[in-house]
Amino acid sequence: MEFSIKSGSPEKQRSACVVIGVFEPRKLSLPGDVINQAADNYVTNLLRRGDMEGKPGSTLLLHNVPGTLCDRVLLVGLGKEKDFRDKEFRDAVATATRTLNEIGAFDACLTLTELPVKKRDLSWRIRQTVLMVGEALYRFDRFKSKKDEVRRPLRKITLTVESRSDLTAAEAARSQGQAIVAGMNLAKDLGNLPGNICTPTYLAEQALELRKAHSLKVEVLERADMEKLGMGSLLSVTRGSHQPPKFIVLRHDGGKKGGKPVVLVGKGITFDSGGISLKPGPEMDEMKYDMSGAASVLGTMKAIALMALPANVVGLIPTVENMPGGNASRPGDIVTSMSGQTIEILNTDAEGRLILCDALTYAERYEPACVIDIATLTGACVIALGHVASGLFANDDALAREILHAGQNAYDRAWQLPLWDDYQEQLKSPFADMANIGGRPAGTVTAACFLSRFAKKFHWAHLDVAGTAWKSGEKKGSTGRPVPLLTHFLLARTGANVE
Ligand code: BES
Ligand code: MN
Ligand code: ZN
Repeated sequence: MEFSIKSGSPEKQRSACVVIGVFEPRKLSLPGDVINQAADNYVTNLLRRGDMEGKPGSTLLLHNVPGTLCDRVLLVGLGKEKDFRDKEFRDAVATATRTLNEIGAFDACLTLTELPVKKRDLSWRIRQTVLMVGEALYRFDRFKSKKDEVRRPLRKITLTVESRSDLTAAEAARSQGQAIVAGMNLAKDLGNLPGNICTPTYLAEQALELRKAHSLKVEVLERADMEKLGMGSLLSVTRGSHQPPKFIVLRHDGGKKGGKPVVLVGKGITFDSGGISLKPGPEMDEMKYDMSGAASVLGTMKAIALMALPANVVGLIPTVENMPGGNASRPGDIVTSMSGQTIEILNTDAEGRLILCDALTYAERYEPACVIDIATLTGACVIALGHVASGLFANDDALAREILHAGQNAYDRAWQLPLWDDYQEQLKSPFADMANIGGRPAGTVTAACFLSRFAKKFHWAHLDVAGTAWKSGEKKGSTGRPVPLLTHFLLARTGANVE
């Protein structure tokens, strides 16, 4: 998608379609007023006749509006002006984009970016608009012999701003938004790819591709390297699989030389069958998404490389396939992690924590400013928070606040859950330093407690994205979350305004 930013008169835009917002009941937004005046009240006459109320999700397409240079004008319902907030703004942009694409407008001019949204500035509105357009136009049809071809797909969008003095900030927000969309699309593609294609080797190849196109340094550790490092916990998960394990290390050195990096760690289980503790059949296909944490790290690294973000960021991706087999780990097995702590594997389906713990220990070598791990870790998190918020845990309150705030700004929200010592009790094992499961109560918390034992040497946060990384049902697919949260977090750390 090509975006450009212009200031001024919507009626003078030569484009296939100009998009105008209408508040409920029948109230034109400011740019709409301008068009309406140029058109000698043509639009307000239609509204008065009752052709459109302005309800959220509603649209009305007008042809040959007098006094304008565009082919068509698309009215988009915004709902009540006093309720117009983040979500309503995003929904309006999504509706506009979908409609434009359906009506075969090759290019369009969006004036929704001029609408005031409570507590949000122009940069936020531009960034979110670019994100929503990206969201509305994303397709994954690589494996369809017959693609749903759009006759004349939307290719060019002009976003309008009120005055020329807004142009610099708007341009910066546009390019941030486009970088985030590119990162999200990469994360979505990788998530949507099936387990027979998106293997640990494939993820490693994709990481190496990023090195070619962007200023990233990428290194892939092989099984022998991991054995030397003593990653006994990680390697125990790969035993049942015929796919070789990989440990991917990415670096973006955009900050001060020697400055402490933020380290992102992504769970990369390319398929989670459960192993010997085999999962039940229904919906098991969704376990191809169990590498969504890894995908979000790759997506975020791509986004910040595109932005040339002035920060040092390391991405770590432990990636393996969890399969049953004659050589697979069995319940009761005891393994030694890279940290030296021993783990009794009571359930081979609690494998995410087994690969993440060794990656956390590996992260120590960077003397990180902080470490954030991202994982589709527990089904219990889906029960607790559904598909709206990611679960957040942290051993540092300031870091937790920063992440929650980034999530709010990105509209990719997280909700904090407790990491109290009382829960650690549930991980006791009679035979090893800890068990890998803590029983049914608070399954999301005990999983985080397990990880916390490997994150003592740095500020650390854990995002459980089991409910947010993909959608089930009819519109099944990867969401690209939490790439928006992570990129906003990193942007804010460099002092960028992302409120
Ligand atoms: N990848 C799953 C978590 C998951 C389950 C994500 C369903 C999304 C939807 C994870 O590896 C897992 O299997 N966790 C177990 C842990 C249990 C054995 C303690 C779970 O949540 O059932
Ligand atoms: Mn599992
Ligand atoms: Zn898993």
